Amino acid sequence: MSQIGALSLLPVSASTAADLLSPVAEDPNHFIVGPYLQNIGPDEVTVMWITHKNCFSWVEYGAGTYTTKRAFGYVNGLIEANNRVNKITLTGLKPGMQHKYKIVSTEITGYKGSKVEFGETISSPLLGFKTPAENEDEFKTVIFNDIHDRPQIIPQLLYRHGYTGNTRDYDFVIFNGDCFDWVTEEIQMVDHLIKPCVDIFATEFPFILTQGNHECRGSFSRQIPSYYAYPDNKFYYAFTRGPVRFVVLDSGEDKADDTVDYGGLIAFDQYREKQRMWLEREVESPEFKKAEFRVVIIHISPYHSGDGHGTLHCRKVFGPVLNKAKIDLQISGHTHRYMTHEPDADHNYPIVIGGGPLEGNRTLIKLHATRKQLDLKMIRDDGEIVGKFLIPKKGK
Ligand SMILES: [Fe+2]
Repeated sequence: MSQIGALSLLPVSASTAADLLSPVAEDPNHFIVGPYLQNIGPDEVTVMWITHKNCFSWVEYGAGTYTTKRAFGYVNGLIEANNRVNKITLTGLKPGMQHKYKIVSTEITGYKGSKVEFGETISSPLLGFKTPAENEDEFKTVIFNDIHDRPQIIPQLLYRHGYTGNTRDYDFVIFNGDCFDWVTEEIQMVDHLIKPCVDIFATEFPFILTQGNHECRGSFSRQIPSYYAYPDNKFYYAFTRGPVRFVVLDSGEDKADDTVDYGGLIAFDQYREKQRMWLEREVESPEFKKAEFRVVIIHISPYHSGDGHGTLHCRKVFGPVLNKAKIDLQISGHTHRYMTHEPDADHNYPIVIGGGPLEGNRTLIKLHATRKQLDLKMIRDDGEIVGKFLIPKKGK
């Protein structure tokens, strides 16, 4: 579903000088993009979308065929309203079941004192998603990295290599950092990531954006988290999907905090130290210990990623913890050179680094996890398998 082209449908002859100065403000309310799913679990999912004008928005949803429930966003007792970027979490869902949903937004045209004035209501078609089962035995995911503002990579790699016959080879999609060169405005994220995902899969299947060093850059970088949903609103977290405990780490910037380009506005050393303390707790958690497999997602690999400050600091803070934690697999990007690395004297688990962003060097990493094994294949854009691991379940 897309109404992003609505502006081009307006009659040009009606334009006045004022319209030409602010054509977007005159555009009728519509969905800029979405809905797109984030953060799915057996009993919850977060639905996101962006409206053109400020609205009061909600999700109508239900298990099976009917949308008997409504969910709103809440902040400090207020129902979320008079906003454009919507992030509404549906809770109490039934595990392993198909659900239907639609998004609804009513424009807020103004306030007369404290009284709200409402405008037109718009809604999406009825859409659907399936929650994962509580004890899901297997799942599939695909991992992109280093798209660097080349959104055509998403349909090209997904349509060419994301299917077996007509069957999708993914239950969710991971973007492992550097989707952008640097972010300066909302429409860049819409056009270069969110809309291509919505067009192909994101109304039904969620995606994850991991922070790479390039997401840290640009005038809009501090607004990025508003457009995606993360557990506890952090870029580092862990989640369980079927037999796998995923640990997502934020490798941060690749250069030192005092690099002149950053203007003294970054503090990644202390942030990575804080993550290390969280990681030490995570690897001792029952969820981590009881998982059949443990997979680390991190944009800059602490190993085989040059000798920049970010790489070396990730190695110093995360390396010892990961080496003790019986990690089965680490998936990274950043170097733009696809490569697989067997365990060695520095890291006792295999590492996969995806390539990109130029044609002939772009990869889609496909992971199929079952209770018995992790089956990873890294596919180059021409279809060649350029890396693979088959990792059986080990005795823990
Ligand atoms: Fe990078």
